[in-house]
Amino acid sequence: MSEQQASTSPVLGIDIGGSGIKGAPVDLATGEFADKRLRIDTPAESTPEKVADVVAQIVDHFSGQIAPDGPIGVTIPAVVTHGITRSAANIDKSWIDCEAEKVFEDRLGRDIVLVNDADAAGVAEVKYGAAANHPGLVLLTTLGTGIGTAILYRGILVPNSELGHLEIDGHDAEKRAASSVKDKEGLTYEKWAKRLQRYYERVEALLWPDLIVVGGGVSKDSDKFLPLIKINAEMVPAKLRNTAGIVGAAWLAANKETQPGLVRHPTTEQRVE
Ligand code: BGC
Repeated sequence: MSEQQASTSPVLGIDIGGSGIKGAPVDLATGEFADKRLRIDTPAESTPEKVADVVAQIVDHFSGQIAPDGPIGVTIPAVVTHGITRSAANIDKSWIDCEAEKVFEDRLGRDIVLVNDADAAGVAEVKYGAAANHPGLVLLTTLGTGIGTAILYRGILVPNSELGHLEIDGHDAEKRAASSVKDKEGLTYEKWAKRLQRYYERVEALLWPDLIVVGGGVSKDSDKFLPLIKINAEMVPAKLRNTAGIVGAAWLAANKETQPGLVRHPTTEQRVE
């Protein structure tokens, strides 16, 4: 499949988060929303079936604006290998080993492309945002309830990096350095930046990205903490902010075939001669 052309209908992207499920049709020529975003609270018991009901409401709401049988992109804060959710750090444990892409496809009768939330945001930043057309190795980190990461080399995603769970000084990194921890512990930006410094130093020592894009809601205040972090890589705030998950999911729905990491390959199914 070639990259989506400017003249086609918008593609729906849906971002599943711990507190809200958000969706919007995306104009893939610009990476902008083609209509106002719809947000519905995540059900208190956020099992795959209950979340699929909310996703269906969002699809219904926008059905007049998107291609009737086109694919829909959906993000989830979990590892997703070949449509199966494998982890559940900050979501209901029933997602572990769930055939989630199939649950959504059965519920919606449409082709679904399910991806990790940070991976979708990374793709959006590389296609339309702070890392657009970057010629080297880009790491996106989202600082939120947890820490999500996406690794992209020349626009190609290496999915499910999960570097938010690096063990640093005996702790799961996101339990010390996510922005939710800053809020919970009432840390000043200076104190939090010391934890971020430790985190990014470690990430840099292991991966050596050329550029680190820092996303998540707190990136709107990046001037308060990014200048305090000193590493070799260039660090910049994300450009798409809270639209990145939706935009990346929509882009991937239309262009999944361009991302080898998301396409089933012979070693994961049957080898072909
Ligand atoms: C999860 C990741 C997710 C990140 C951001 C982490 O706790 O393990 O899969 O991308 O949170 O939501």
